Amino acid sequence: MERQMLRASLERLNETNKLKECKVEVDPKYEMGAVLKYYNNETPILFNKVKGYNTKAIGGMFGDREIFYDMLQTSHEERIYKFMDAIANPKPTKLLNDGPIKENIVKRNIDVSKMFPIPTFHEKDSSSFITAGIVIIRDPETDKRYTAVRRLQVNGKDNLSILIASPKLTNQIKELQKKNKELEVAVILGYDYTFLLASQVSSSLYGVDKYEIDSALRGEALELVKCETVDLEVPAHAEIVLEGTIPANQSEIEGPFGELMGYYGGVAEHPIIRVSGVMHRNDPIFQVSFPCREEHLSNGLIREVELFTETNKMVDVKDVNVTIGGGCRFHGIVSINKLSKGDAKSAIIGALSSSKDLKHVVIVDEDVDIFNGREVEGILATRVQASKDIVTIKGGLGTGLDPSHNLESISDKIGIDATKPLGESKERFDKAKIPGYENIDISKYF
Ligand SMILES: Cc1cc2nc3c(=O)[nH]c(=O)nc-3n(C[C@H](O)[C@H](O)[C@H](O)COP(=O)(O)O)c2cc1C
Repeated sequence: MERQMLRASLERLNETNKLKECKVEVDPKYEMGAVLKYYNNETPILFNKVKGYNTKAIGGMFGDREIFYDMLQTSHEERIYKFMDAIANPKPTKLLNDGPIKENIVKRNIDVSKMFPIPTFHEKDSSSFITAGIVIIRDPETDKRYTAVRRLQVNGKDNLSILIASPKLTNQIKELQKKNKELEVAVILGYDYTFLLASQVSSSLYGVDKYEIDSALRGEALELVKCETVDLEVPAHAEIVLEGTIPANQSEIEGPFGELMGYYGGVAEHPIIRVSGVMHRNDPIFQVSFPCREEHLSNGLIREVELFTETNKMVDVKDVNVTIGGGCRFHGIVSINKLSKGDAKSAIIGALSSSKDLKHVVIVDEDVDIFNGREVEGILATRVQASKDIVTIKGGLGTGLDPSHNLESISDKIGIDATKPLGESKERFDKAKIPGYENIDISKYF
C-alpha cells in the first residue's frame, strides 16, 4: 500500500469509485485534452493507451472539491482551519537514501518528448506543454526553496521554457542571471492532492517552505530523496522528475498557449530550463492538467484561506467561495453574520485586499448558500440597489490572465453589498416557508 504521491491517490480513487479508466488509444495531440474537457476536468481519468507511447497518463484529478476534502481528510466546514493550521505550523520533511523515483535514472540522450506523452491542447498552442509539473527552485543566495506549478513549453529534446508568473521570482532570476549564476531546478510529476495544495500557498504572503507545509497537511513527514544531477530534494514516491538548470542569459519565445480562462495568453521571452537528468518509476504515469478553470481549484482553495482571513479581520465571516466560474481567482462570494450597518462595505475592503487577482466580490448574509449560483443570482436580483450597494475602484492591480484590460494587469474592481438591511426592514427579506418542507419524504408520492 502506497502512502504518498500519485499511486496512493490512485488507490483511494479506485476505492471510492472515482477513477475512470480510458482503455481506447488517445492521441496526446488534442484528443486527450478534448476528453478531459468533456468531463470538465472534474473526473479523474487514467489514459491506459496513449498513441505513440508505452507510458500511461492521468488528468482531471484536481477539479472536484469533494475529492479534495476526502483526500485531505477534511470537510467543507473544517477546510479553511485545517489549511491555516498547516501554513502556520509547518512540519519537517524526511530525507531517505533511496525511493521508487530512483528506479530509473537517465543522464544521457535525454529527449523528453520521446520519453513522455506531453500533450498539445489547443489549435494555436506553440508546442506541446507540461502543465502539471511542480517546479522546485532553490534560491542560491538565501537557500530557500520555492515550489509551484509552472507551465513548461517543449522547445527541443532537453530544452523547456518556463513561465513564472511571480514578478518577485522573475526579478530574482534576472538579478542572478546578471551575475551569470545558474539556478538549479527540478520538475515533479505524479504527486498527490496534499502536495499540489501545499504548492499553491503564495510565497510572498507566507514565505515558508511548502514542502514543510505539505508535511503538516498530510500529518506525516513528506519523504524526499536527493536528485542525481542537481542539489535539490524531491518526493521519493513521485512518478517522474526532470532535473536541470535555468542558465544565465538564455531565453526563448513562449506561447501562444490557451490558458486558464480559455483565451490565448501573451507571447513573450521567458527563461529556459536545460534538462540534465530524468528519474522515473517503473511504468511511470505522466500527469496532465488540462488548462482550464477546474484544474485551478487547488489554487482557489488556498485563495479561500486568504479571502477568509482578510474579511474575517473586519467582520464575522461564515463562509467564502472563490468560484470555479471565475477561474478560482477573479470572483469571490462571502457570507457574513451582519452585526452593524458598515459590515458589508468593510468586508468588501477586506476581500479586495486579499489578492490582486480578485476582481468582483459579493457579500451576502449567512442565510445564503454561496455555493449555489442560482440562489446567489436571486439574492443579487432582490437585495441590491446599484446606487448605494456597489463600490467601484478604478485601475487597481489585476492578473495578466484577464484579456479585458489588454493584458496590462491593471483592472477595475467591484464590490457588491447584497446583504439585507438591519432593523425592522430586514423582515421584508424573510423567505416564504412551507411548513414541513425540510422533512418531506418525496418517494412517498410516486
Ligand atoms: C494547473 C496549474 C497551472 C499553473 N500554471 C502556472 C504557470 O504556468 N506559471 C506560474 O507562475 N504559476 C502557475 N500556477 C499558479 C502557481 O502554481 C501558484 O500561484 C503558486 O502558488 C505560486 O507560488 P509562488 O507564490 O511561490 O510563486 C498554476 C497553478 C495550477 C494549479
